[in-house]
Amino acid sequence: MSERVAVPPPASAARPSAVAGFDVARIRADFPILRRQVRGRPLTYLDNAATTQKPQAVLDALMNYYVTSNANVHRGVHMLSEIATEAHEAAREKVRAFFNAASAREIIFTRNSTEGINLVAQAFGRWKVQAGDEVLITAMEHHSNIVPWQLLCEERGAQLRVAPIDDSGALLLDGLEALLTPRTRLLSVTHMSNALGTVNPIATLVQLAHARGIPVLVDGSQAAYHMPVDVRALGCDFYVATGHKLYGPTGIGVLYGREALLEEMPPFLGGGDMIRSVTFEKSTWNDLPYKFEAGTPDIAGAIGLGAALDYISQIGLDHIGEHEHDLLDYGTAALAEIPGLRMIGTAPHKASILSFVLDGIHPHDIGTIVDQEGVAIRTGHHCAQPVMERFCVPATARASLAMYNTRSDIDTLAAAIRRVQAVFG
Ligand SMILES: Cc1ncc(COP(=O)(O)O)c(C=O)c1O
Repeated sequence: MSERVAVPPPASAARPSAVAGFDVARIRADFPILRRQVRGRPLTYLDNAATTQKPQAVLDALMNYYVTSNANVHRGVHMLSEIATEAHEAAREKVRAFFNAASAREIIFTRNSTEGINLVAQAFGRWKVQAGDEVLITAMEHHSNIVPWQLLCEERGAQLRVAPIDDSGALLLDGLEALLTPRTRLLSVTHMSNALGTVNPIATLVQLAHARGIPVLVDGSQAAYHMPVDVRALGCDFYVATGHKLYGPTGIGVLYGREALLEEMPPFLGGGDMIRSVTFEKSTWNDLPYKFEAGTPDIAGAIGLGAALDYISQIGLDHIGEHEHDLLDYGTAALAEIPGLRMIGTAPHKASILSFVLDGIHPHDIGTIVDQEGVAIRTGHHCAQPVMERFCVPATARASLAMYNTRSDIDTLAAAIRRVQAVFG
């Protein structure tokens, strides 16, 4: 059975942000879990790239939905079903506004980013990709933006091409451009690398691809909670994000797709809600976005995500990005002072990720020892094994930042790393 922990009231002494007007102490007070202790120490949560913690507003929205409004959507004429349907569609509208999509018809709820990418790989890919065609990704992708394309390419007899990165972890634009060929059917690229922190110039990549008539999918799993995303300004055709990194619940994600493409694409999963009519001979498809939402959706998850987006928007992603950038600079300088520490991922344009290795110490041991100090970081290949191979390391230790982190968290991390070195002599 899992450990039950009493959460004490908010601590008052969080170190202020270096960014004027960014009240990090107030933000921290909104996240109940940050008040708990881990191994007898205050929690220092630096595993945000894996998942972020949830503000009280999200927890309240989930609880309120189940306590007052739980019913299935789109199916009932009774009052609770109407309330649930309205709340679900209101959440879709919040997602539309958050990403500045032109229409809520372009917002498809998924389980997570992984499902969004698989949806495009199956629905768009099976429609457009034939034997001899190519799908282009980059060398910094998460497995979620590699494996669905491998499955598709294997099935269709197509080729997966990989654009190179340099030793800092920055994308080589010339290298990518050279791989945009008349056979390229899609460019699928991450907005921000989870293993390196590199932020890619999406608008430029979209221009390069569109000049050749090639659609672009952007994996926004990491970027969406660190910087404002405007899908129309980026010009991309598809954009995926995952709720649990956006301070929302697990089990809910978002796929934005350009309406004209979604209209033409065949469905992904078949079942209830995605149909207009069914006979044993033939079925026809529902309107967007429902054509791509088979079965009962994660209603509570969507409502919780809507509350998370409200919360983020109220603080402002510009401010959040500025605060996190200060922490990234502070952390980069603090870790640079530790002898034997090598940073993996030093691209000029990066965000919120401090990925590193220590001479002679396996990242797993780093993670285990800093955990004794209450510091939560991630160690391993971060679902990006090709990135590890590119940098000739089996794994890294990764501290990743979110809006509620402080310079004190970085100091605690740096002290914990020095303790790891002391343990290993
Ligand atoms: C860049 C990137 N893409 C995709 C994913 C997959 O997200 P999910 O597991 O929520 O589908 C992650 C998760 O870490 C990620 O960082």
